[in-house]
Amino acid sequence: MHALKSKIIIANWKAYVTTRKALRAYFGAFAGRYQKAVTPSSALVRSTRQKDQAVHRRNSAPDIVLCIPFPFLDEARQAIQNLKPTLLLGAQDVFWEPGGPYTGAVTPPMLKDAGVSYVIVGHSERRKHFSETDDVIAKKVRAALDAGIGVILCVGESARAADDDQMRENLDTVRMQLGRALEGVKKSHIKNIIVVYEPVWAISGFSGVADTPENAARMILYIRRILAKLYDASVAKTARVIYGGSVSSQNVAGFLREETIDGVLPGHASANPREFLWIIRAVVEGR
Ligand code: PGA
Repeated sequence: MHALKSKIIIANWKAYVTTRKALRAYFGAFAGRYQKAVTPSSALVRSTRQKDQAVHRRNSAPDIVLCIPFPFLDEARQAIQNLKPTLLLGAQDVFWEPGGPYTGAVTPPMLKDAGVSYVIVGHSERRKHFSETDDVIAKKVRAALDAGIGVILCVGESARAADDDQMRENLDTVRMQLGRALEGVKKSHIKNIIVVYEPVWAISGFSGVADTPENAARMILYIRRILAKLYDASVAKTARVIYGGSVSSQNVAGFLREETIDGVLPGHASANPREFLWIIRAVVEGR
């Protein structure tokens, strides 16, 4: 049985919101409706009293992180600071050095100072468009953790498995990516990492077709097995591992019904405030 953990929802806005005007419109639509979205209905509260642990787990408020483009971090921080339950601020990238002659770099201390709690590292779009290697990703993971910033570590294969050979290749890819990214990461730091299984082929910009909850759960169990090998069984059990790739309000409940999936990372859908609120609602209600 898993320890009781809150569900996690990570909004990755990517570069969908491109102006402050759009950011203000987003929070204008989001702020007033957030509390209602995140409050369980009275029917759910009643069923929780029956000590149904699965319901209780769904019922506890999810941990929500909003990963915002750098130029809008401060305004987003202000927009969410009075919302309850608290939402956390996240960034979408970080450089590995703390500071110095690195034109254009956004460093861990800068993010820390901006109020950022988590940063995405290893996203397939960074690997593809910015040529990020496993080595670069490993440096970013360590730098963020050393600065006290949590890491949202993305791993995932490129091609959907149509046969056993491809499946074996996909397992190897995920194992390698995870192993490389966690090189030198101490066991005590794993609690500050959220691993995201994000099959590249399922990301909305690619196909728009999400993985099935069953497949995602299988890969996430495999990720837990790798963590058991790299660390130990307790790390494998308590590590937070979530799914990303074309998550929407329509399919989110299916993923969260899988015991091993601790949450979701919607990209495109999270950039629409109404749709993101529906996703939060679906997670809270478990349907
Ligand atoms: P998507 O993106 O929900 O738009 O597929 C997920 C991600 O790549 O972060």
